[in-house]
Amino acid sequence: MPQSKSASILITGATGNIGKELTKYLASKGIPFRAMVRSMDHAKDLESLTFPGTEVVLGDFNDTVSLENALKGIEKAFLLTNSSELAEQQQTAFVNAAARAGVKHIVKLSQWAADVNSTVRFLRYHAVIENLIKESGMTYTFLRPNLFMQGLLGFRETIIKQNQFFGAIGDAKISMIDTRDIAAVAGEALSFAAHEGKTYDLTGPESLTHNQMAEKLSVAVGRKIEFINITPKALKQTLLHVGFPEWQAEGLVEDYAHYKLGEAAEVKSGVKEATGNEARGFDNFINDYASLFSA
Ligand SMILES: NC(=O)c1ccc[n+]([C@@H]2O[C@H](COP(=O)([O-])OP(=O)(O)OC[C@H]3O[C@@H](n4cnc5c(N)ncnc54)[C@H](OP(=O)(O)O)[C@@H]3O)[C@@H](O)[C@H]2O)c1
Repeated sequence: MPQSKSASILITGATGNIGKELTKYLASKGIPFRAMVRSMDHAKDLESLTFPGTEVVLGDFNDTVSLENALKGIEKAFLLTNSSELAEQQQTAFVNAAARAGVKHIVKLSQWAADVNSTVRFLRYHAVIENLIKESGMTYTFLRPNLFMQGLLGFRETIIKQNQFFGAIGDAKISMIDTRDIAAVAGEALSFAAHEGKTYDLTGPESLTHNQMAEKLSVAVGRKIEFINITPKALKQTLLHVGFPEWQAEGLVEDYAHYKLGEAAEVKSGVKEATGNEARGFDNFINDYASLFSA
């Protein structure tokens, strides 16, 4: 009987927003992968992790031994953590463990405008890790997405109950991206050597103000939805109120200060370059998710 070959691609963050879409994308193409999860319980309802070529391995970014175990025999890895004050330390541990394990290529989920000198803490740590990967000698693909369209789901409750969502961005435009497109770029980067050494700026096909988003959302759900511009201080209080830790709440306020300056308004062609397909627009996103914004 032929021996089944174990997967050579490791997906971290497999239970998160992008990870779920990425595992679906790879499964739909029949590409075997190993998904790293920190709890089997978090993975049990994910259909994409039941695909025949899929392995699931326990791994925690805070436990180097578990990372080394997850990385055994891996050639290409997708690196994603959530943004917390531990992110730089966790991603450093992962990159070092990957280099020791002989990984050849890392696809790193970074962020639009990553820069070690940025005023935004998330952009600083992403740039530090990009540099570490470059210095490690492994090949890389960096994905730098703009604000996620799916972030609007964080306002689901206020949109359903009050017909409102909030932000500290004024009339600045932003070229948001659909996470399904980020996952498709990651899937391609893990599958084809042509993406090695590339940094992709990932945006949607248009730049919109939050008032324009509210107009489009109103049409899709068939009732008036309003965008309410709030101060950075009120944004921080709101984020703390809904359970964000202080470090992340402050980071999101910094993100919005950068958006408000129009620094995330440019439209880029990264999705098309990497996948050959046009990036999904906000209309497409809102039509697909409209039912989630009604009770
Ligand atoms: N939101 C935006 O608009 C935006 C824009 C640009 C870039 N980004 C970047 O996108 C990234 C977040 O992506 P996302 O929304 O897909 O993340 P997410 O949904 O928060 O998912 C985070 C993933 O990391 C896993 N994880 C957390 N702690 C772990 C640990 N200690 N060990 C192992 N796994 C752990 C989680 O597993 P569990 O299921 O077990 O929790 C989950 O699978 C951040 O780096 C952020 O800077 C975000």
